[in-house]
Amino acid sequence: GNKSINAKLVLLGDVGAGKSSLVLRFVKGQFVEFQESTIGAAFFSQTLAVNDINVKFEIWDTAGQERYHSLAPMYYRGAAAAVIVYDITNQVSFDRAKKWVQELQAQGNSNMVMALAGNKADLVDARKVAAEASDAQTYAQENGLFFAETSAKTATNVNDIFFEIAKRLPRV
Ligand code: GTP
Ligand code: MG
Repeated sequence: GNKSINAKLVLLGDVGAGKSSLVLRFVKGQFVEFQESTIGAAFFSQTLAVNDINVKFEIWDTAGQERYHSLAPMYYRGAAAAVIVYDITNQVSFDRAKKWVQELQAQGNSNMVMALAGNKADLVDARKVAAEASDAQTYAQENGLFFAETSAKTATNVNDIFFEIAKRLPRV
């Protein structure tokens, strides 16, 4: 049969950026307008086949509320991959995303595969964070992150982020 690897993946980002919505879209193909704010963290798993290898993601969807910040290391420690999520309509969430990247660079596992997701890409009229040049794309390149704008609502680029991470994982 196919070779299988397990990969612990953590989602980090500001409250309301859409972490749970991205996971729900990826794992169940669903979206809810009134997703409840996560308490502590939630666990999901999903398997992707990439180049004859089954990658089983063990996903920790963390809570963005500040009072849960101290729990985050429990979830990113030992993680093979991280998705750092911000909301393209919220500049503060982008600043917060950069703080998470810094924290992972300082405390995370050194060969962690990181992706930056600019979520709510369907809300173009309310955009506050530019996609290209000066902002997200450049920042991601400078920091070795894979970058995409996503929409959990329309499903744009959601599976792609996880596929891209799976492809970049070291093959054990
Ligand atoms: P915490 O668990 O509190 O850290 O938040 P979160 O990052 O998990 O955000 P959540 O997935 O709960 O989404 C917050 C709100 O944004 C919900 O009302 C979602 O329906 C909405 N939302 C999430 N993703 C999208 C998206 O891509 N587009 C739009 N229009 N709304 C979205
Ligand atoms: Mg959540």
